[in-house]
Amino acid sequence: MTLANNGGALGETIPDSNLDGSRFVRACLRKPVDRTPVWFLRQAGRYMQEYREVRKHHTLVEICKQPELAAEVTITAAEKLGVDAAIIFADLLLPLEPMGLDFEFQAGEGPVVHRPVRTAEDVHALRTDRAGDLAYVARAIEKVAAHFRERLGIIGFCGAPYTLASYMIEGGSSRNYIYTKRMMYADATAWRGLLDKLVAVLTAYCRQQVEAGADVIQIFDSWVGSLGLSDYCAYAFEATQQLVRAVQAMGVPVIYFGVETAGLLGQMAQTGADVIGLDWRQPLDEGWRAVGHARAVQGNLDPITLFAPMEVLEERVKEILRAANGRPGHIFNLGHGIVPGTPVESVQAVVRMVKEFRLEGPRG
Ligand code: CP3
Repeated sequence: MTLANNGGALGETIPDSNLDGSRFVRACLRKPVDRTPVWFLRQAGRYMQEYREVRKHHTLVEICKQPELAAEVTITAAEKLGVDAAIIFADLLLPLEPMGLDFEFQAGEGPVVHRPVRTAEDVHALRTDRAGDLAYVARAIEKVAAHFRERLGIIGFCGAPYTLASYMIEGGSSRNYIYTKRMMYADATAWRGLLDKLVAVLTAYCRQQVEAGADVIQIFDSWVGSLGLSDYCAYAFEATQQLVRAVQAMGVPVIYFGVETAGLLGQMAQTGADVIGLDWRQPLDEGWRAVGHARAVQGNLDPITLFAPMEVLEERVKEILRAANGRPGHIFNLGHGIVPGTPVESVQAVVRMVKEFRLEGPRG
């Protein structure tokens, strides 16, 4: 494939035979598409009235564990927004439970792990033989896949080893990752043992999701930006690469996402992931250059732009699409998740803007 253009964004016609597969999956593989696909990180969530209604009657974990409810929340959000992909409603922390760590979401506090992993013995005690307990996520994917069939791309997901390890060790969200980095630096055997166990469980979990109908797997390394490049290479890269390769061997593309990753992008691309998520702190074309044009990219609108006046929002959306410049392999998204209080109309407006966008034709 050449890097010349993705046809659609320039308004060209693409033969039908080149349009197999959803627009979203095609973009992940850097194949030509009729227009740039769009979806949003955290597109189902508290900013949406329909989700808040369901949440009145069920906890977050209850929704995740009841495939009927998880599928409904997933489908409602994707249809209301008119996006090109549906991400299954689940949470990053679900695999902790079958590994032997109880957690809960406390209002306003985020996730809390009751007995965090702090020692080699704690790592030793973690179980890897119960990934089957997570099958409720696969059952929800089956329902979403049956609903959308070929119309939308269906995204399964899991946390990356580093980000999940940080939740297990810190016991929740963290500012400085002191316990995590202390184990990483001081006890290489425990650290590597923890990452190996995570890779084993996450691989099995992703396999269930792919077998259930996920077209793509997104690996969230949300907190990897807490690592400098040397530490990323020394302590996180290899386990992530193993997970990426294991998922690709299942026959689906992988999106690898992180935040505050400007200094890590080149190395993140070395995992072999098909698509790299970009946050908004650098222009999309700069981020793409750092990733290398042999990979697709996803991003990178600042989620808080959704609170801006329409003209500002539109300018930012167009800036991103112009920076992508019609090159195959751009998936429009935010640089991180939608936050509570975001006006739904602004999210819908972005979908419209992406759908209507045309690059100015070649000059001269
Ligand atoms: O449409 C969707 O994307 C929703 C599905 C989804 C959830 N969590 C449900 C959820 C997804 C993709 C996630 C991933 C997730 N979970 C990540 C990676 C994405 C990112 O933002 O970096 C992370 C870091 C988590 C861990 C997590 N879950 C945190 C830190 C919190 C609390 C912070 C917050 O936003 O409130 C959660 C809770 C959570 N997971 C909510 C939702 C909709 C909100 C709480 C609720 O409904 O009670």
